[in-house]
Amino acid sequence: MKRFELVFPTKVYFGTGIVSEAIKKERELFGKRTLVMMTGTVLEQLGYLDNLKSILTEILGEDNVFLFQNVSPNPDIAEVAEAVAFGKENSVGSVIGFGGGSAMDAAKAAAVGIASEESIYDYLLNGYEPGPGTLPVIAIPTTAGTGAELTKGAIISCREKRIKSGIRGRYLIPRLAVVDPTFTYRIPYNTTMETGFDVFSHAAESYLSVKATAFSDMLSETAIKNTGLYLRRLSEDLDDIKARDAMSFSSMLMGMNVRDIGNCLPHRMQYPVGALTGTSHGAGLAALYPVWLRYEYEVSWERVNDVLKWLGYGMADTGGEAERMIRDFINGLGLNRTLKDLGICNMSGEDLAGMVSGNLKNDRLGEVPGICAKIYDESMGQFD
Ligand SMILES: [Fe+2]
Repeated sequence: MKRFELVFPTKVYFGTGIVSEAIKKERELFGKRTLVMMTGTVLEQLGYLDNLKSILTEILGEDNVFLFQNVSPNPDIAEVAEAVAFGKENSVGSVIGFGGGSAMDAAKAAAVGIASEESIYDYLLNGYEPGPGTLPVIAIPTTAGTGAELTKGAIISCREKRIKSGIRGRYLIPRLAVVDPTFTYRIPYNTTMETGFDVFSHAAESYLSVKATAFSDMLSETAIKNTGLYLRRLSEDLDDIKARDAMSFSSMLMGMNVRDIGNCLPHRMQYPVGALTGTSHGAGLAALYPVWLRYEYEVSWERVNDVLKWLGYGMADTGGEAERMIRDFINGLGLNRTLKDLGICNMSGEDLAGMVSGNLKNDRLGEVPGICAKIYDESMGQFD
């Protein structure tokens, strides 16, 4: 069996209504003052922000809880710089990411900048490494998708330079994750399916990664089976509480695999699609998956068949059959869109492949010359 190490750097509290208990028990992590980072006002409208604020006020006092709500869905470095200045001005000792992946990523980046003398731009654009002085990050996810509550990366854009990149390092890993599935109960259909597909893709890609271990395989299997059962159930009934809880749990489990194992080609290839079209991470992944899985079958057919079996399908004898099965799954979630449907036009697969960055070696296909261009080209046309 392959060697591996296990470290759990994040303390996790999981359960419905657990936020108050978790924050009170971990009070010392927050310091004297804290900064809550959010995307817009949706959580405020739902009453979730008032609830969090009253818990924080109880332990820190009203004057010591600061809010920054200007995080956009693809957080920009300029917004992070604004939050850093605000956090420094108010001498905050911790940063809370309250929301989906964007809020948590922005919180991680702000925690680096507030504690540093260097410009946050240097961390993003010049590869500066976050140090041990980085402020504690507390992640409170409100979607079931990214698993960012356990990961060591903050995906941040620089629109001015047309770059989407990341600040990464072990000091970015949240010290505390409070996963309360009730935050996800009112998420609308499209976001539920797109974020749920992200959970599935973390599970499938970590299982197919060359770095997969016996431990990560166990987590992938659970997350794929849960997605096959519960995301399908949510596609029929968004009020299925048991299914919501199972997706939050699976999302959190896959945060561990993203942190320790990493993803395969679809994750590297979705970033240009998202940057060019403004479409969501999950929507871009779903557009790329069928063709990618057909090629992946050629290099890892046994593992591809495990993924399909856990999703509830039979054995695929060819890559084409594997592709048809995953298309069926994607159709059932209403995510059947091509790259053209997502708004990619007047660009070749080669053009898009030129925009792919990051580590491709996790994927056995990564070394195949021209593979990204082929997958892009074949994902352009008719979905069915
Ligand atoms: Fe993802």
